[in-house]
Amino acid sequence: MILGSMLVSIGISVGFLLGTGLILALLLILAEKKILNYGTCCIDINEGEKKLQVTGGGSLLSSLAENNIFIPSACGGRGTCAYCKVQVVEGGSITGPVEEPYLGPEERKNQIRLSCQVKVRNDLKIRVPKELFSVKKYKGKLLNKRPLTYDIVELRIELLEPKTIDFVAGHYVQLESEEYDGHDRVMRAYSMSSPPSDKNHIELMVRKVPSGICTTWVFEHLKEGQEVVFSGPYGKFHLSNTDAEIIFIAGGSGMAPIWGILRDMKEKGNTRKATYFFGALTQRDLFFVDKLTKLQEEVPWFRFVSALSNEPAESDYKGERGLITDVVARYMPDCSKYEAYLCGSPGMIDACIKVLKKAGLTEDRVFYDKFV
Ligand SMILES: Cc1cc2nc3c(=O)[nH]c(=O)nc-3n(C[C@H](O)[C@H](O)[C@H](O)COP(=O)(O)OP(=O)(O)OC[C@H]3O[C@@H](n4cnc5c(N)ncnc54)[C@H](O)[C@@H]3O)c2cc1C
Ligand code: FES
Repeated sequence: MILGSMLVSIGISVGFLLGTGLILALLLILAEKKILNYGTCCIDINEGEKKLQVTGGGSLLSSLAENNIFIPSACGGRGTCAYCKVQVVEGGSITGPVEEPYLGPEERKNQIRLSCQVKVRNDLKIRVPKELFSVKKYKGKLLNKRPLTYDIVELRIELLEPKTIDFVAGHYVQLESEEYDGHDRVMRAYSMSSPPSDKNHIELMVRKVPSGICTTWVFEHLKEGQEVVFSGPYGKFHLSNTDAEIIFIAGGSGMAPIWGILRDMKEKGNTRKATYFFGALTQRDLFFVDKLTKLQEEVPWFRFVSALSNEPAESDYKGERGLITDVVARYMPDCSKYEAYLCGSPGMIDACIKVLKKAGLTEDRVFYDKFV
């Protein structure tokens, strides 16, 4: 009896504390939005190259986007991807706790910040790479949405406004979802699997993430014929200008930029030798095997290796079995003269980099896009 009433009073106290905390947090957000007025602030970019007049109070990332300067922002401003770094030369507040884990000592010294975490409260002077000025916002029409596996769809989008895009194979766009079921619009990064020669279309491969905002929209709400909005192109993931032999490693939707690069290589007559290791769980996760096998037959420079880690031993699957890391280690005992290009989950990429380094590949010859 006594224990019961003690538990009830503890429950009431905890509820009271949580409720008070929630009300205080809401009041702070309201105060920031309604009471504090930062007026118009000037953002000076690259020592006067551009000067923007923006309404204070927003994030640096969104204030720039409203003025058609698109900084990469794969996580849509949540402070988890660290893609949105810019140099804030003057006027930035102190680095916040969300930013701390993503900034190295050299970056802090150079006033690098996550632009999604910097509030525009006063005039700012910033520096951004010039190539970001050529990133544009596009309107397109979804021509085709087709399943590649049970959890990956391919989207083919026709560009409407502007009608063409110039990009380098391996780069990505940021697709904007629409509002649905109480979710705001979000932007997420998707690599282009189409070749740059097709300037009027882009193709993407999107893997369903359970409870993911953008992928649920793509799978359950986005319909063929519908208008889509994206910005781009972004990225640093592309083939280097050397003739070193290539190791590609990617599974699932990580294939998107690799497929784009392979199509581009074929079209341009690039004959750099390349082996593509496609890691997956079972046969139902494999796709494009026919296309990759055909490419292997058509050109002498390409080899395709699939590896399944969970495929039942008695199945009719003819490819390699085991973890992708073990298969790569078996095929590539000495990687010292290669370059490696990896795409997919951070865990897969980190595990593969360890194997490649053990086989003699130096870090400056490893390139990757982690799908965070
Ligand atoms: C350069 C780059 C290229 C990429 N290319 C591709 C590609 O070609 N194909 C592809 O499929 N993907 C790609 N991605 C990944 C893609 O951008 C998205 O991250 C992915 O599709 C998930 O988006 P979402 O909105 O569906 O999920 P989100 O809503 O972002 O959720 C992702 C996960 O985080 C959890 N989560 C949701 N909200 C929060 C929160 N507030 N705090 C913590 N966790 C939360 C969710 O439960 C879920 O497990 C790429 C990423 C990068 C960085
Ligand atoms: S947009 Fe992802 S960390 Fe800023």
